[in-house]
Amino acid sequence: MGTPSSLSTFGAGKVILLGEHSVVYGHPALAGPLSQGVKARGVPSKKCQLSLPSTLSRGQRALLTGAFARAAKLVGEPLVKVTLDPELPLSAGLGSSAALSVACARLLLLAAGKQATPPEAARLAWEMEQEFHGTPSGVDHTVSAEERLLLYRRTPDAATVGRGRTVDSPRPLKVVVALAGERSPTKKTVGALRERQARWPERYRRLFTEMGRLASEGAKAVEAGDLEALGDAMNVNQGLLAALGLSSPPLEEMVYRLRGLGALGAKLTGAGGDGGAVVGLFLEPEAAVVQLTRLGVRCFSSQLAGPRAS
Ligand code: PMV
Repeated sequence: MGTPSSLSTFGAGKVILLGEHSVVYGHPALAGPLSQGVKARGVPSKKCQLSLPSTLSRGQRALLTGAFARAAKLVGEPLVKVTLDPELPLSAGLGSSAALSVACARLLLLAAGKQATPPEAARLAWEMEQEFHGTPSGVDHTVSAEERLLLYRRTPDAATVGRGRTVDSPRPLKVVVALAGERSPTKKTVGALRERQARWPERYRRLFTEMGRLASEGAKAVEAGDLEALGDAMNVNQGLLAALGLSSPPLEEMVYRLRGLGALGAKLTGAGGDGGAVVGLFLEPEAAVVQLTRLGVRCFSSQLAGPRAS
């Protein structure tokens, strides 16, 4: 929180360890917050406005302006000018739009003199997320606002936000996130999968159910401190994502690279498709980050849960 003359907020990025895509169909997903995210800063202004980063395309600018206006209206358009500082790669599968929504939501709430608790921030960020994604499962902005490892499940009523149960880890849960090229927007990948599942519903239902079971088993493995079991669930999940047509050569290559560097498990994370982000579970991620960086791979490490070195 800042003084009334200057406010600054943060929205965390997220990484899905298990259960992306199947979460859209009501199955659980295991996801945690990244230490990287989007920062927002607000200063007093004559009107409620968002100052847009110059790097955005025309389409992105229109989308962002519309989403911000929708959230601003709901809190009475406080007189603040908001600027954004994204630390995350955009549209890579790391929840950049949710992080941005949560950072904006927190800032708008504070500027309006309201509380910016995680549920309040999540509620307002959800309004923005719907502008960005149409009908998202809600896992991204919930994890971003709560900033905890969650086993998340969408509520059957798609108009409301789902629920997350906190998953405590007795061991540090550390990952490496590596980028494997550009990818299509989430909406497109989710839409194409929806068409396939509508055509062959039984086959796809079986795979989604299995992915949801992996997420629940993964949460139990985390709670039991069994990171080897979590890693195995991630590897199996990657196989199912490939079966659903959501992987591709750049993603597979990165998955095998991370496994070769000692990952207990590695898989694509987020919507996947023709490229995007890969997550690897590591006991000691730093050596892998050094090696990947040397090879020219954009990557970073993050701790998602568990005790932290002080
Ligand atoms: O790639 P991202 O960060 O947009 O994540 C998408 C996650 C999906 O499960 C594919 C979609 C959703 O709404 O949960």
